Amino acid sequence: MSQPQSSERTLILVKPDGVARGLVGEIIGRIEAKGYRVADLKMMSADRALLTRHYGEHEGKPFFEPLVEFMSSGPIVAIIAEGNRVIEGFRSLAGATDPTVAAPGTIRGDLARDQGTKVQQNLVHGSDSPESAAREIALFFGS
Ligand code: RTP
Ligand code: MG
Repeated sequence: MSQPQSSERTLILVKPDGVARGLVGEIIGRIEAKGYRVADLKMMSADRALLTRHYGEHEGKPFFEPLVEFMSSGPIVAIIAEGNRVIEGFRSLAGATDPTVAAPGTIRGDLARDQGTKVQQNLVHGSDSPESAAREIALFFGS
């Protein structure tokens, strides 16, 4: 069956806390169980230069430095997921940014909590718009 033309792609990152806690399988399972397709995937280390480009919109904010420190503290898993409205759909699966108030049933709501650190450790990243998705997929996968 061919993909409908409206099918889109998003960049998902399992952050260092998700990898360290052994939640990669659980998170990918939720993406696939929802019906999205994993189109590409790799484990990698993100350096400061890549993260500064990825999180450019947050440069200058108080959590920017701790965010870069956190995101470069260990391996991450980068995933391209595909499906109709997957950008919005994965943001919904991930839940609110602050894991303490993220709704139960979401990845962050079920699996993360406040760690008392300077930055919210919330297991996953998901692109927030088609423009961000295209930019971030190019940054992490060069395509
Ligand atoms: P993401 O970009 O990682 O998918 O998360 P998001 O859209 O839900 O949140 P965003 O506002 O883009 O923030 C990026 C990441 O920075 C960390 N953060 N910590 N005040 C804090 O402690 C704080 N604010 C943001 C989180 O890791 C957030 O996901
Ligand atoms: Mg964001």
